[in-house]
Amino acid sequence: MSQEYILEMTDIVKEFPGVRALKGVQLKVRPGRVHTLMGENGAGKSTLMKCLIGIHPPTSGRIVYDGREVCFKNTHEALNAGISMIHQELSPVPERSVAENLWLGRVPVKGIRVDHKKMREDSFKLFKSLGLDVNPDEKMGNLTVAKMQMVEIAKAVSYDSKIVIMDEPTSSLTETEVEHLFRIIEDLKKKNVAVIYISHKMDEIFRISDDITVFRDGEYVCTDAAKNLTVDKLITLMVGREVTEMFPKVECPIGETILKVENLSAGRAVKNVSFELHRGEILGMAGLVGAGRTETAETIFGLRTKTGGKIYKDGVELNIRSPEDAIKNGIALLTEDRRGKGIVGLLSITDNTTIASLKDYGFPLNHNKMRADTEDYVAKLNTKTPSIATQIQNLSGGNQQKVLVGRSLLTNPDILIVDEPTRGIDVGAKAEIHALISKLAGEGKGIIMISSEMPEVMGMSDRIVVMHEGVMTAILDRKDFSSELILEYATSDIPCDPDVPPTDPGR
Ligand SMILES: Nc1ncnc2c1ncn2[C@@H]1O[C@H](COP(=O)(O)OP(=O)(O)OP(=O)(O)O)[C@@H](O)[C@H]1O
Ligand SMILES: [Mg+2]
Repeated sequence: MSQEYILEMTDIVKEFPGVRALKGVQLKVRPGRVHTLMGENGAGKSTLMKCLIGIHPPTSGRIVYDGREVCFKNTHEALNAGISMIHQELSPVPERSVAENLWLGRVPVKGIRVDHKKMREDSFKLFKSLGLDVNPDEKMGNLTVAKMQMVEIAKAVSYDSKIVIMDEPTSSLTETEVEHLFRIIEDLKKKNVAVIYISHKMDEIFRISDDITVFRDGEYVCTDAAKNLTVDKLITLMVGREVTEMFPKVECPIGETILKVENLSAGRAVKNVSFELHRGEILGMAGLVGAGRTETAETIFGLRTKTGGKIYKDGVELNIRSPEDAIKNGIALLTEDRRGKGIVGLLSITDNTTIASLKDYGFPLNHNKMRADTEDYVAKLNTKTPSIATQIQNLSGGNQQKVLVGRSLLTNPDILIVDEPTRGIDVGAKAEIHALISKLAGEGKGIIMISSEMPEVMGMSDRIVVMHEGVMTAILDRKDFSSELILEYATSDIPCDPDVPPTDPGR
């Protein structure tokens, strides 16, 4: 008997204390198809998937999987039944090797010993079959967020599942890896595996989805074939109103140099990077994974040890040894590694917002002002939370990101470095964050914006620094921006001299 659906979830309700996250939603997934879940930050997408795989059993509702009613008690049960998930918030064990992370909970044994040899061989085999360039012996913590994400993808695929859930799998990937993932997805489809895909990136969604289900505010809106939908239609379904997906570049005067980086190096990750940032300027940073953009930002911010070069602010050389030094000097960093270096899960929204600005709240701390400032950013960024006292770990991924954006803005920096600022942010909220960044530039601050999303980095930046494997290969002026040119420089090996206008990297 051929079955139409591999998964049917009906009338799913999920209540958390004080929050009705899912209000009776449905989802029907066919084998061999990519089924995308869409909805604003906090709509309930991740929660529905967690209900499915036994992380949060639903308060009520019915789940029929592979022809029988199920209610998995934990992820282990779900995995054994053939459902694996790549989580939105990665949770690797950083001190362990890639191979150990990959086979965690199912390590091959020989007698009573872990069979390390087999583990390494199986890892090599898996990476080879997926065409991934990752060393299984590397410590997980040494990988970039992107590489970690690729390892998680490999891990989910390795279970031979009937359903693979991907919750924002591309949030830290650049275009090359995204293409790679899409090939993996095509292969899964050929094997009749169903892929449940969650993303906020419209271009991706329309490239790979067969079916799309939209949720709004914990409620089911509709399901349709992707070919019957358009970006505008989808946005209206998701948000309930019309939103532009444009990037509001606000022209503002470019002033004096505020930050000068001269021959900055950090081990092998950053090699002799030099650029100047001006007041009022948004300096984009583009490149592929491993380009060294995040590492450059971390070195300026004192998270990573500088092994060479100089950093000047307003002409004065800085000696930054720690993030505290950087913040004291008016530099803020919005990290790309939300879970590892960003949020403090158990603390409230208020604590997470104000944590980098505590010195501004006197002693003893002025809690009323802390709460007022937090309320202010929650309102400005439209963060969806029951209250500012809620633990940040209970917010949806996109809403956690909004809290971090608020934190970096609240330190009132002269120089703001944002690393993938709109990662996981829905289309409606993106424009709001872009507008806030533009406003800061308008106030005469200098902004460095690392972004792997071409439209974002091209739309927002005055100039773009392009990097490849730790080397700066070009600085482009806005009039010269094109995605082809950026991609060419992103794969070029020739370092650029910041004083000389870039030439065609092909020559
Ligand atoms: N463990 C939890 N405790 C309390 N509330 C929670 C918990 N997990 C999720 N929620 C709430 O449930 C709602 C739905 O969250 P969910 O993470 O499913 O959103 P999402 O659609 O995945 O959003 P995003 O696009 O931002 O990832 C949110 O209001 C969130 O605050
Ligand atoms: Mg989510």
